[in-house]
Amino acid sequence: MKVQVAESAGFCFGVRRAIDSVYGEIDKNNGPIYTFGPIIHNEQVVDDLNSKGVQVIDDVENLKKISEGTVVIRSHGVAKNIYDILQHRHLNIVDATCPFVKKIHNIVARESEKGKIIIIIGNDKHPEVEGIKGWVKGKAIVINQAAQIEKLQIKENSSICIVSQTTFNHNKFKYLVEIIQKKGYDITVVNTICNATHVRQVEAKKISSEVEAMIVIGGKHSSNTQKLYDICKKECKNTYYIQTVNDLDLCELKSFESIGITAGASTPKNIIEEVHTECQK
Ligand code: F3S
Repeated sequence: MKVQVAESAGFCFGVRRAIDSVYGEIDKNNGPIYTFGPIIHNEQVVDDLNSKGVQVIDDVENLKKISEGTVVIRSHGVAKNIYDILQHRHLNIVDATCPFVKKIHNIVARESEKGKIIIIIGNDKHPEVEGIKGWVKGKAIVINQAAQIEKLQIKENSSICIVSQTTFNHNKFKYLVEIIQKKGYDITVVNTICNATHVRQVEAKKISSEVEAMIVIGGKHSSNTQKLYDICKKECKNTYYIQTVNDLDLCELKSFESIGITAGASTPKNIIEEVHTECQK
């Protein structure tokens, strides 16, 4: 059986940086450590951090109860009001917001300050989008479907700035922007899709079009892994979404002559290697 592992599978630069920040804080042994939300969508990594004393704070109300220690902001970034709360409570902030996400915060803050309407192309409920919205002066509009564009109540000739969630699908972003462009607004488009995502998606598409079965590894709640799965499924009907090597159905896989493997941005290298080794048995 031929097994091909995508070179771009696994942690991206921003996630690696955020995880390293937390382990760096553990080494400092400088009081309680918290992450605002799980540092990544990967239970094994979160469990390991938890065993070393790192606690996950899930909402603002609980954040307001902390009186000392360090809070690590994960790569998704957070809204401006979260920094305000942390500063107000004199907590030590370790900001592991991915620089590519920080760039979006800066764009929407600057452009909304100029009076532009901000459209974010992405998933309204995703923490990254929640964070971006929190840097917009005034109201931000979040879109991920063409039908939502028809319902927009924006006057003709309005000035609009469009950005995207970093993990949004490249082609869908282009498609939605083209529809908005036909509406007669004065539009500035900043494609803020992260290149790591794009490279991973393109490689996953290519490999899945060449193999008999494709394995996509990632956490249950990871939106970038779900998107990878959707892309691969279109090219290869035998596409499997797994979290760890334990989810592999080896009997089923044995019937294929070629297998491709990719993984979402939050999947540690050791999990990818375990799956690779198992497939080769
Ligand atoms: Fe950053 Fe791109 Fe990863 S935005 S967190 S390097 S997917």
